Amino acid sequence: MLLTGATGFLGGSVAAHLIADGHGPALLFLVRAEFPEQGLERLRDNLRLHCVPETELKSLQESQILCGDLLDTVWMYGERARLMRVEQVINCAAVASFSKNPSIWPVNVEGTFAFAKLLCQSRNLKRFLHVGTAMCCGPQRESPVRESWDFPDSEEQLVDYTASKAEIERRMREELPSLPLVVARPSIVVGHRELGCRASGSIFWVFRMGFALESFTCGLDEQIDVIPVDYCAEALVALALKPTLNHSLYHISAGHGSACTFGEIDQAYADARGEAPVGQRYRKVSSDDLRELAGSFESRIGKANPRLVLRALRLYSGFADLNYLFDNQRLLDEGIAAPPRFTDYVDVCVQSSRDVSIPAQMQWDFK
Ligand SMILES: NC(=O)c1ccc[n+]([C@@H]2O[C@H](COP(=O)([O-])OP(=O)(O)OC[C@H]3O[C@@H](n4cnc5c(N)ncnc54)[C@H](OP(=O)(O)O)[C@@H]3O)[C@@H](O)[C@H]2O)c1
Repeated sequence: MLLTGATGFLGGSVAAHLIADGHGPALLFLVRAEFPEQGLERLRDNLRLHCVPETELKSLQESQILCGDLLDTVWMYGERARLMRVEQVINCAAVASFSKNPSIWPVNVEGTFAFAKLLCQSRNLKRFLHVGTAMCCGPQRESPVRESWDFPDSEEQLVDYTASKAEIERRMREELPSLPLVVARPSIVVGHRELGCRASGSIFWVFRMGFALESFTCGLDEQIDVIPVDYCAEALVALALKPTLNHSLYHISAGHGSACTFGEIDQAYADARGEAPVGQRYRKVSSDDLRELAGSFESRIGKANPRLVLRALRLYSGFADLNYLFDNQRLLDEGIAAPPRFTDYVDVCVQSSRDVSIPAQMQWDFK
């Protein structure tokens, strides 16, 4: 099996899961590095954050590293022989940023397409599991959102990232019909059930900010679809290895059964900190009104660039305001376990974030 993106949040958790299940020796990793030794070092550094035991890390070999960048296709032809022997791919690599990053389209669309096109020539490939994002459905969908291959025009998407993730799915499906493609679209991935934010504080800082400011653009009675990275990884591994699947497109999400309201999250967050919830003091504000909060940023969340904080809050509120739950019945029907609720492990996220300021944690999403 070939795993891409294993130096990142989700790919690291997938690697940890596969290694714990005894698949370590059979794995190949696509890593951005000049040479395999450096690639292995980068991989090990990330897997340490996911608490993979040192004995397992030591047993990973340089020969398991394919050095390559999706911005460049030259390495793919040099590695063609090894790529043609792969039976499953879990493709977690992407520029996962809401910012205007010039690499988004070249990596998420052009590079990913070139990679999939080469693998499409393999007679051994059984499954190309591509990790998309549930948010690529665009705005104005009815919630709970069901899996669909219909996408809005790129201009309607909230950010370039979701537009790129929609476009690569469309291109692979239309232009590579013989690719054994399965797309898994996670909803919002926050923390880990046992490790909290140790491997990544991605998105958790938004909740911390909302409670610290006692204001955000969502109402306390509104729900949000959040899953932990280890659940997402478990589901991806199951989708990659299951001999047959009923569909080629799946949400990996909390869905109706496990989504929480902001009010429930407020209570669980406050319990974990031994404080009273924000509750009655909470104010639902409009995206435009977020600017009025800037004066209290420093006293409430710590020293930070107010323009950056405001931009971040606006970007993330755009998604939170969609108020989407993503239907996960297809995944459950495959026999994959139901997801936990965010409130079941918020305390672990709180404990693991204790020594990290909110602005510092925000850097996970603005690297
Ligand atoms: N986190 C979420 O909430 C969430 C939700 C839904 C879907 N997803 C999807 O999950 C996937 C992984 O996201 P993540 O949160 O784990 O992101 P991440 O932590 O930023 O990891 C991204 C991974 O992609 C690799 N990568 C980036 N550019 C590359 C390139 N040019 N060539 C090769 N590899 C490259 C990175 O390698 P380097 O270490 O070398 O940079 C890293 O390993 C993405 O497809 C994303 O769309 C994430």
